[in-house]
Amino acid sequence: MDDAIYPDPSFGAEDTALREAAAADPIGFWADRAAELEWYEPWEKVLDDTNPPFYKWFTGARTNIVHNCIDRHLSGPYKNKLALIWVGENGTDYKTYSYFSLNREVNQMANVLKAMGVGRGDKITIYLPRIPEVVFAMLACAKLGAVHSVIFAGFSADALADRIDDSESKVVITADGSWVNGGIFKLKDIVDEAIRFSPSVENVIVVKRTGHEVAMDALRDHWYHDLTALPIAKGDCPTEQMDAEDPLFILYTSGSTGKPKAILHSHGGYMVGTYTTLKYTFDIRDEDRWWCTADPGWITGHSYLVYGPLLAGATSFMFEGGPTYPYPNRWWQLIEYYGITTFYTAPTAIRSLMRFGEAWPNRHDLSSLRLLGSVGEPINPEAWHWFHRVIGKGRCPIMDTWWQTETGMFQICPTPSMPLKPGSAGKPFYGQVAEILNEAGEPVPDGEEGFLVLTKPWPGMLRTLFKDDERYVNTYWSKYPGKYLAGDSARRDADGYFWVIGRTDDVIKVSGHRLGTAEVESALVSHPAVAEAAAIGLPHEVKGNAIHAFVVLRMGYEGSPQLAEDLRKHVSVHLSPIAKPDWIDFPDKLPKTRSGKIMRRVLKARALGQDEGDLTTLEE
Ligand code: PRX
Repeated sequence: MDDAIYPDPSFGAEDTALREAAAADPIGFWADRAAELEWYEPWEKVLDDTNPPFYKWFTGARTNIVHNCIDRHLSGPYKNKLALIWVGENGTDYKTYSYFSLNREVNQMANVLKAMGVGRGDKITIYLPRIPEVVFAMLACAKLGAVHSVIFAGFSADALADRIDDSESKVVITADGSWVNGGIFKLKDIVDEAIRFSPSVENVIVVKRTGHEVAMDALRDHWYHDLTALPIAKGDCPTEQMDAEDPLFILYTSGSTGKPKAILHSHGGYMVGTYTTLKYTFDIRDEDRWWCTADPGWITGHSYLVYGPLLAGATSFMFEGGPTYPYPNRWWQLIEYYGITTFYTAPTAIRSLMRFGEAWPNRHDLSSLRLLGSVGEPINPEAWHWFHRVIGKGRCPIMDTWWQTETGMFQICPTPSMPLKPGSAGKPFYGQVAEILNEAGEPVPDGEEGFLVLTKPWPGMLRTLFKDDERYVNTYWSKYPGKYLAGDSARRDADGYFWVIGRTDDVIKVSGHRLGTAEVESALVSHPAVAEAAAIGLPHEVKGNAIHAFVVLRMGYEGSPQLAEDLRKHVSVHLSPIAKPDWIDFPDKLPKTRSGKIMRRVLKARALGQDEGDLTTLEE
C-alpha cells in the first residue's frame, strides 16, 4: 500500500513487537498491561476460564477503578494536570478540574451518597446532561463500590422508569434540566413521572443546571448544592477495596427482542481493557487534549470520555452541546480554542457536518489536531475522506474503532504503525482474534460476508446480563459454542483487514444510537390507534439508518399524514426523540411466519425493491 496513511510510523517497531508478543501470549500481554496499573492485592490468576462463558479476569486481585483514575495520580506528576475541561452549551460556561480538584469533587459526591446509605452493590441511576457532575457521579459510585446505571438524558419517562425499576435503584441523580439547542429539556419532570410508582427509589439528587422552577418532594428530593454545603460532604471518602470481579456498572442497551438488557461490567478487567486500548490505539501523550464527543449515557462515553482517559492520566475535554448550535462551526471553534489534539466522534456527525460545506471548518485553525477517531457505525469512504482532508488537513490518521457496549473496549481498530484503509476498522486489537463465519460455523473465504465472532476472551468483556445469565449465554454464546457472536456482519480482506457491514439482528443503529425494533414497536403499540407494528431500518444518507414503521390500525382508525405525525410524536414522548420513525406506512396486515412472528426481513426487502428471499415460512 504505497499511499498508505500511518498513524505514527515512529512507533512502528514497538507496535509490531507488542502485536507479536500479544498474539504469542495474550495472557502474558494482559498481565503486563495490568501491571502498569496499581492493585491493592495482586491477582492469583489472569484469566479464569474454568466456567465459560462466565470468564473471570485477575481473580483474587483487589482494586478499584477510581484508585487508578484518580487516587494514584495524586501522589505523582499528574496531581495538578487537568483531568477535565468542560464547556457549557452557551460557550461561556467553562470549568476545569485538575486531578486534585476532581478528587475533591468525587469525594464530595461520594460522601453525600454514603450519607444516604449507599454502599457496595447498591444500584444508582444517573440521568444527567453532559455536565461535570455526571463524571463525579459515576466515579463516586465506583469509589463506594456501588453500581451505576447511566441513562442517556434523551430517554423518556417510560424508558427511564423501566430501567430504574429493573435495576432497583436506590438513588437517582439528575438535574433540573439540560440545555438542548438553546431550549430546556426538563429532566426533573421526567424523573418525577418515571418514579411515581417506583418501589426502590429512596432519594433523588438534583443538580441545578438550567435554573428553571421545578417541583421538589420535601422528603425525597434534594438539591445537590444544598447537600454539598452540609458537613457530611466534607473531607476524604475512602476508596473501597473491591474484588477485581466486583460489578462496576450496568448499562442498558438494545437487543433483538424484548426490553433492553443491562450489560454488566466489572472493576478489574474493564479498567485494564479501557486503559490499554486507549493508550495504544490513540498513542495518548502527556500533552494531549483528548475530546470524545460521545455522551456518558452510552458505552463510548463510559469507556473513552470518563474511565479510559483518566486511567491514562490524560486531559479529557467535554462539551455540553451539539455540533451545530448555534452554528455548524461549533466543534471546529472548540478544537481551535482549546487546542484539541485527538478528536473521537461518530460517522453520523461527520456526515451531517459535511452537508454544511467546507467553509465552516476552514474558518478555523485546526492545526492542533494530530489524530482523529470514529466509532458507532461503519464510516463510509466519502465521509472518511472528508474528515481526513477537511478536518485533519490530510495529516491526521483516522482510527476507526469497532466495538460494542458488550465488549467494553475496542476490539477491531488500527494501532499506530498499521496502514489505514478508509472504511475498514483495521485488525483485531493486540491479543484479540476475530473470525467471519457462515451459518454452519465455518470460516468464510476472504472477501465474503459472514457473521463476525470473537474467539478469545478479553478483560473488558461483559460478565453477564444483569439478572439474566441465561439470556447472556443464549444471546452471545449459543450460535457458535465457545465463540462470542457480535451480531454484526462483516468481511475480512486478503490483508486481514475487517470491514464491518452492519447488524444482522433486529437492532438498528440510527445516527450511531442503538435501538431495538422491539422497543420502537412497543412504543407504537401503546398508542390507542395501533393494533400491530413492525419497525425496520433502511439506509439513510446522514443517519446511517432511519426507522421505517409499518402500522396496522385498530378498527375505526384510518391512516393519514396527521396520524403518522401523532405516532411519531408518541414514540418521541414514550421512548425517545432519537427513536422517532422517519416514515410510517399503514398496511392492512404484516407479513408473518405461520407461528406468528413478524418477518421484518420481507418488509425490508420490499422497501428496498430487493428479492424477498425464502418465503416458505410466510403465513399465506
Ligand atoms: O454494529 C456495530 C456498530 O455498533 C454496534 C454496537 O453498538 P453499541 O453497543 O451502541 O456501541 C457503539 C459504540 C462502541 C456494533 O455491533 N459499530 C460500532 N463501532 C463501529 C460499528 N460498526 C462499524 N464500524 C465501527 N467502527
